[in-house]
Amino acid sequence: MSEKHIDQETGTETTGHEWDGIRELDNPLPRWWLWIFYASIAWSVVYWVLMPAWPAPPGMQGHTTGVVGNSERVNVANDLDALQVSRSDFFTRLEAADSYSAIEADPALFRFALAAGESTFGNFCSTCHGAGAQGFVGYPNLNDDVWLWGGSFDDIRHTLVVGIRSDHPETRFSQMPAYGADGLLSREDIRHVRDYVLSLSGETGFDAAALEAGGAVFASQCATCHGAAGLGDRTQGAPNLTDAIWLYGGSPEEIENTIWRGPYGVMPAWEGRLNDPTITAVATYVYSLGGGEAEVETEGAAGE
Ligand code: HEC
Ligand code: HEC
Repeated sequence: MSEKHIDQETGTETTGHEWDGIRELDNPLPRWWLWIFYASIAWSVVYWVLMPAWPAPPGMQGHTTGVVGNSERVNVANDLDALQVSRSDFFTRLEAADSYSAIEADPALFRFALAAGESTFGNFCSTCHGAGAQGFVGYPNLNDDVWLWGGSFDDIRHTLVVGIRSDHPETRFSQMPAYGADGLLSREDIRHVRDYVLSLSGETGFDAAALEAGGAVFASQCATCHGAAGLGDRTQGAPNLTDAIWLYGGSPEEIENTIWRGPYGVMPAWEGRLNDPTITAVATYVYSLGGGEAEVETEGAAGE
């Protein structure tokens, strides 16, 4: 096998391997390839010296640290510190800002509040309110201008701080009776008042006597919270029943069921779970979604 064989065509020595008459030429490796190969070896030696590279021998801790002492962990920690510093300024300014207009007046702060608010919303709120805050049955849509408890910046912020029917000592609270489940009204009365409620938002075709009976039940049972005209009462979180927008569904069956069981929507309190400026940021985000209402204070021209 060690006898030399020269290929006739090219004049190159072969390796001696042959398959079906095809011989393998013994060409040298291309120059460019070799140079890259040697350069890689040289580079790896330099790299070992400069950077952390070798694990410590068995029985010892850690690894060689390299001359420049680079550590990704330390880099990340430094980056995070830098981020904290750059943010803490914003957080301090958010903490000081006491109104939407004050935040909006500072464009960089406003941008920061919206971004921080949106990401907080994605983490903590979208499970219940939906990724676009569009809501689900029982979980209000936060994009529209329909508010149970109020849509000013302060109202929204306060809702976030104390929650609704939450375990916060100052939670927003009210409780509609379970008229059917607790036997306060007969099934017939509930159907009558259901029809009356539907008529408030313009539904027609109900029996006149039923409507009259329903109106009487409404006046005696429901008006204290929902108002004589059914326009709702934000101090009690009682929805407007005339706007044809339904938190718990607007079909006759759904409304009857709501009156029967007494709805009890729970929204957690965020005080203690999110820090103050973060609550302000997420309130800013929710307020900006479109339904925010002007602040009641007459603080100069807040404008639209
Ligand atoms: C566990 C589910 C849940 C989570 C999480 C949640 N909410 Fe709510 N939220 C509700 C429910 C239910 C209501 C309606 C309560 C009621 O019927 O009065 C509500 C009401 C609200 C309201 C009042 C709406 C109005 O019409 O007055 C706002 C504002 C709000 N949520 C914002 C948020 C924000 C911002 C977050 C995240 C920080 C959040 N919610 C997280 C369930 C939740
Ligand atoms: C003690 C106050 C109170 C009384 C009395 C009351 N409600 Fe309510 N009602 C509420 C509150 C608060 C809600 C919202 C509950 C929630 O969000 O979970 C509500 C919700 C509703 C809803 C659901 C609206 C929607 O958007 O889906 C209907 C329908 C309704 N009430 C009808 C009635 C009728 C009819 C009566 C009288 C028979 C009545 N309520 C009496 C406080 C009251």
